[in-house]
Amino acid sequence: MIALFDSGFGGLTVLKPLIKKLPQYDYLYLGDNARTPYGTRSQETVIRYSEQAVEYLFDQGAELIITACNTVSALALRHLQQKYKDRKILGVIRPLVEKAAETTKLKRIGVVGTRGTIASESYDEELEKIDSEIKVYSQACPLLVPFIEEGWHNKPEALMILKKYLRDLKSKNTDTLILGCTHYPLMYRNFAKYMGKKVQVFDPGEVVADSLEDYLQRHPEIEARLTKGGKRKYSTTDRTDNFKQFANRELKLNIKEVSKVKLWE
Ligand code: DGL
Repeated sequence: MIALFDSGFGGLTVLKPLIKKLPQYDYLYLGDNARTPYGTRSQETVIRYSEQAVEYLFDQGAELIITACNTVSALALRHLQQKYKDRKILGVIRPLVEKAAETTKLKRIGVVGTRGTIASESYDEELEKIDSEIKVYSQACPLLVPFIEEGWHNKPEALMILKKYLRDLKSKNTDTLILGCTHYPLMYRNFAKYMGKKVQVFDPGEVVADSLEDYLQRHPEIEARLTKGGKRKYSTTDRTDNFKQFANRELKLNIKEVSKVKLWE
């Protein structure tokens, strides 16, 4: 089974395109809603929470884990990959960076994300590794996640804040924007509109899905281990009714059952 882990609901924006592209596999989703947001927390805390999540998912039989959360991918992925060396854990930053590097013509890329992700400079570092001539302009957008979780992301208040966040980035003459947070695809149209026609904005979930498909083709030994029954399981560390409501309202996932799990004492 492929497991996806996120701090809460956001990773469902990655799960949905994954299921669409690779429907044959079994999926288990875990949202740590009780401790969301991760984007404002210290690296030490994000690592601790992520370890608990990853151990739970391996116990459930995950053969491959994707840290759908950008903050986890930025702050904890390297640690997790070193600690669980013989297991497979993939993040979301590398595929997004590869896509952005191949898209930009001007070699000027914008990145938006949580405070934790932006402060970590993980996107800058990964882009630098691919092409040191690329200039990266980042903007943390901490107020967007709560608006999106409230289902308020199309309200004028949210759009005003988004415009303000993007004002500086717009002046940097970038031609590509990375949505470096699980929630932002739910505001995709507005990001694209405010950045203007000259800036390419892509859907991170679709990029991750393409990249996973490619990865599994290149690693048949891992692909062979994945169970293929088309099963989907959803779990959260907090209220299952809230989880179901968000998933069905915002992502039209039509989830019937969500289980509550305990990751810590
Ligand atoms: N999932 C987080 C991310 O992609 C956003 C929500 C949070 O701060 O926990 O960075």
